[in-house]
Amino acid sequence: MEATVTFRLMTIEDIEDVLIIEQSSFPTPWSREAFYNELINNQFARYTVMVENENIIGYCGMWLVMDEAHITNIAVLPEFRGRRLGDALLEKVKHDAKMLGAMKMTLEVRVSNEIAQSLYFKHGFKPGGIRKNYYTDNQEDAIVMWVNLNEQ
Ligand SMILES: CC(C)(COP(=O)(O)OP(=O)(O)OC[C@H]1O[C@@H](n2cnc3c(N)ncnc32)[C@H](O)[C@@H]1OP(=O)(O)O)[C@@H](O)C(=O)NCCC(=O)NCCS
Repeated sequence: MEATVTFRLMTIEDIEDVLIIEQSSFPTPWSREAFYNELINNQFARYTVMVENENIIGYCGMWLVMDEAHITNIAVLPEFRGRRLGDALLEKVKHDAKMLGAMKMTLEVRVSNEIAQSLYFKHGFKPGGIRKNYYTDNQEDAIVMWVNLNEQ
């Protein structure tokens, strides 16, 4: 059964919940301070949380600079994965970026992260290059991916 989810902008009060998702999703999770800094000091940052039954079950961050949106991170709480919620979250963020004037969207993804790559391919992203040794924990390469939001 498809869940009914809503979306809203992340606030300082959401940091603890987002940290739980972050820590269960990434080998080098962002710190509490990193999220605080994004929300308070980065005028280009926009973080969206996905909510089901008042619980935050996913989030996605981006930096919106001129006509370009750069996804910083996207994750769904592990027990909620595989229910097309990552799909819905990315769709929402792409829509918002476009409404706010972005023409293209970019992100980096681990070469080994085939699930995320599949999600991005599905949303029209195409590989644009490789950043060698991008991830500091294991020196893994990143694939840089792009999508033209006007073709969506
Ligand atoms: C990537 C992530 C956000 C996807 O969220 P999700 O809610 O599980 O994904 P969805 O159920 O919406 O699936 C959307 C698409 O993702 C891909 N996908 C999801 N789960 C998959 C799996 N187990 N195997 C292969 N592809 C998969 C598919 O393309 C899928 O589309 P489809 O169902 O039509 O085949 C989630 O796996 C996650 O939080 N991963 C950890 C964090 C992460 O790696 N983030 C990306 C960093 S670049």
